[in-house]
Amino acid sequence: MINEGMVNVSYIIATILFILALGGLSNQETARRGNWYGIIGMAIALIATILSENVSANFEYLIVALLVGGTVGIILARRVQMTQMPELVAILHSLVGLAAVAVGYANFMGHGSGFIGIELTIHDIETYIGILIGAVTFSGSVIAFGKLSGRIGGKPLTLPARHWLNLGLLIGAIWFGREFVIQSAAGGGMEPLMIMTVIALLFGMHMVMAIGGADMPVVVSMLNSYSGWAASATGFMLGNDLLIVTGALVGSSGAILSYIMCRAMNRKFIAVIAGGFGTGGGSSASSGDVDQGEVAPIDAQETAAMLAAAKEVMIIPGYGMAVAQAQHTVFEITKTLRARKINVRFGIHPVAGRMPGHMNVLLAEAKVPYDIVFEMDEINEDFPKVDVSVVIGANDIVNPSALTDPDSPIAGMPVLECWKGGTSIVLKRSMATGYAGVQNPLFFEDNSRMLFGDAKETLDEVLKAL
Ligand code: TAP
Repeated sequence: MINEGMVNVSYIIATILFILALGGLSNQETARRGNWYGIIGMAIALIATILSENVSANFEYLIVALLVGGTVGIILARRVQMTQMPELVAILHSLVGLAAVAVGYANFMGHGSGFIGIELTIHDIETYIGILIGAVTFSGSVIAFGKLSGRIGGKPLTLPARHWLNLGLLIGAIWFGREFVIQSAAGGGMEPLMIMTVIALLFGMHMVMAIGGADMPVVVSMLNSYSGWAASATGFMLGNDLLIVTGALVGSSGAILSYIMCRAMNRKFIAVIAGGFGTGGGSSASSGDVDQGEVAPIDAQETAAMLAAAKEVMIIPGYGMAVAQAQHTVFEITKTLRARKINVRFGIHPVAGRMPGHMNVLLAEAKVPYDIVFEMDEINEDFPKVDVSVVIGANDIVNPSALTDPDSPIAGMPVLECWKGGTSIVLKRSMATGYAGVQNPLFFEDNSRMLFGDAKETLDEVLKAL
């Protein structure tokens, strides 16, 4: 058992570690260290909480819960494929939301707060808001999980008058909040609390159902933000400063990430939330139905010859590189070319793959040096000087129609403009579309060549030929 002072000191140390963790995660070179700060901070927070004076009995339950939760977490983390990460994140957010709802109800039913008058009102509002945000996060994240894992279709559900429906739900939630506070002061309040919980669950479901597949990345980071605010609200309910601060860190960093992603996809944040954008995550072509001409295939030997003759090579990885797990071969090719004094660089789109930083993680895993990996904004103007761009399993992020076709579902999204360079060699298995479901005019450009096949297998052949 440790006293309150020790608990506070531990919480301050944990808070500092969480801030250092976030700082570390902003850069690939420090990301691993950042993760460790987070792990150590969380371990300190857990131990201090368990040993605090607030927990005086029932340790056996806590240990069983920790063992069960920890084991499930380890199994999930070991099993999950990198490409399924967003689904895992979504389902984990739903648990944060569910926890906030459970804590809120337990807190309310315990009625052991000892508050009266205005303090009781404030406490009730905290409980109400905590359950509200928790329930929205829970149901929204479950739907997001369903959409990302393909269990629910990616098409946005656009109910007639959906904005009015949302407004109605919001007004309902405020009205029942008032009822709750009034009834709670008289010893009741369970009924409005339960009605609001149902409203919040419906709101969360409706909000995410209305968002199209192409906007799902933003939704995941937005739900990440909500889960932070739900945790923060739980902290207020329990009077736990560490939970308040940690929740606020998660809430605000999630909101900033959502904003950055919206900018990368040229979406207005409010428009994403209001829903109705984006198409299904399938591979049916939309503008691809229009005949765009013939594509020019190329084989591995010719690709190797072109690369060997180039001076400036740009590699553009996308989701397909993750699927094929081709990053190690990509680096072998990079090393071979660099040894021949060919300047090889990587151009990374902010939403390449299926989660923020997806490509950076894969390239770091393959030990590609950071100084040849560039963000889209840093590199886009250099394409006219590039001899060969190798597009590895990328599609939407190199689609010129984002800039030229105002009706495209990805209209306005900044893309890597590889067609402005010498030759673009596109590696993919077929003519299927990418995540946004739109055909890509890049494949039909005169200076484009298609290298069909699984990216790992074709790159192995290219490496051999080199
Ligand atoms: P996509 O547009 O999804 O294109 C990936 C391409 O990879 C597909 O056209 C596919 O064509 C090819 N491919 C799949 N498996 C392959 C394999 N084994 N070998 C070779 N090629 C393979 O990917 P992108 O260009 O990276 O763009 C990302 C998209 O996902 C954007 O629309 C973005 O908004 C969305 N999104 C991003 C995130 C984040 S945060 N990054 C999260 C969710 C969604 P074939 O089937 O013909 O091989």
